[in-house]
Amino acid sequence: MRLLSELLARNRAWSAEIAAADPGFFTRLAEQQAPRYLWIGCGDSRVPANQIVGLMPGEMFVHRNIANVVVPSDLNCLSVLQYGIEVLGVHHLIICGHYGCGGVLAVLRGERLGLVDNWLCHVETVRRRYRGQLAALSTEAERHARLCELNVVAQVLNAARTTVVRDAWRQGRELAVHGWIYALRDGLLHDLEVTVTSEEEVAAVAERVDLATPPADER
Ligand code: CO
Repeated sequence: MRLLSELLARNRAWSAEIAAADPGFFTRLAEQQAPRYLWIGCGDSRVPANQIVGLMPGEMFVHRNIANVVVPSDLNCLSVLQYGIEVLGVHHLIICGHYGCGGVLAVLRGERLGLVDNWLCHVETVRRRYRGQLAALSTEAERHARLCELNVVAQVLNAARTTVVRDAWRQGRELAVHGWIYALRDGLLHDLEVTVTSEEEVAAVAERVDLATPPADER
């Protein structure tokens, strides 16, 4: 119980492998980090950020939480945004959700999981906002997949509306906020095509998503 010797042994092997391929790697990284990307993704163990985009340590600043949520009252996430954008100077913020997200499914089913429900209420807000679009789909699997996508879009809009991102744009910083979704079954990422690079684009994406599918009762 007290020793995780297998993991520590794997760490030594990993370190040796990297150092053999690139002897200066760790020395360079220890001196500075200059990532180009900031990733906000789900904490799900099947969605390891760096690995699925083939990036090495030092190349991406990462924040993960349950169901990849960005809420303006979350000091942790806001601090990551501010530090990533203003101090590290990233140019791309990627909000990445995934199909099959357990947090999203719990919201869709109205399940009670415990304390985490207080966090998932932010996804519940998304479900309620787009309930017409969801009701138009015939199976739970389709509704689950669509809510996973809509949650990413909603979090892109939330991130883009934070003071941090708006200030960056007002100061003329180049910054794009992207919405991606990852498929567990084949390991492939999909761009949800809601990338925003200015406040005007945020309004356009919000409107486009609201109108994406007419509510069931209007069909
Ligand atoms: Co998830």
